[in-house]
Amino acid sequence: MDKQNISHIGIAVADLEKAIKIYSLITGDNKPEIFEVYDQKVKVAIFSSDGFPGGKIELLTPTSDDSPIAKFLSKKGEGLHHICIYVDDINQKLEELINFGAELIDKKPRKGAEGHLIAFIHPNSTGNVLIELEQRTTE
Ligand code: CO
Repeated sequence: MDKQNISHIGIAVADLEKAIKIYSLITGDNKPEIFEVYDQKVKVAIFSSDGFPGGKIELLTPTSDDSPIAKFLSKKGEGLHHICIYVDDINQKLEELINFGAELIDKKPRKGAEGHLIAFIHPNSTGNVLIELEQRTTE
């Protein structure tokens, strides 16, 4: 039973420190979680309401010129990068999407920024929006 609520919205920014100030003000979260995702060559800041599952804002900035986010910024500038939607069983969802004929970036799930299983669907199949799937955890 997928409830389809949003885990987070990913926003690509050029200056993380600067963006953190305004998003702290907007969300009321003055202590975003900040960490590096080495395989994606990005630094992220995640804003969340205390104990509230989902609906987070994830700021992404590149740590290297060959980061996918560096490429995104040079092509499109700052802005909405992806929307992450919770699914109950990511393997099953990916199988359904493959059978549907969707273009996937990840045919198999991998570990995302927060250690959860994630996979990306290509924007070609989703109205030009990069969609990330995240397996919902029950903690
Ligand atoms: Co994400």
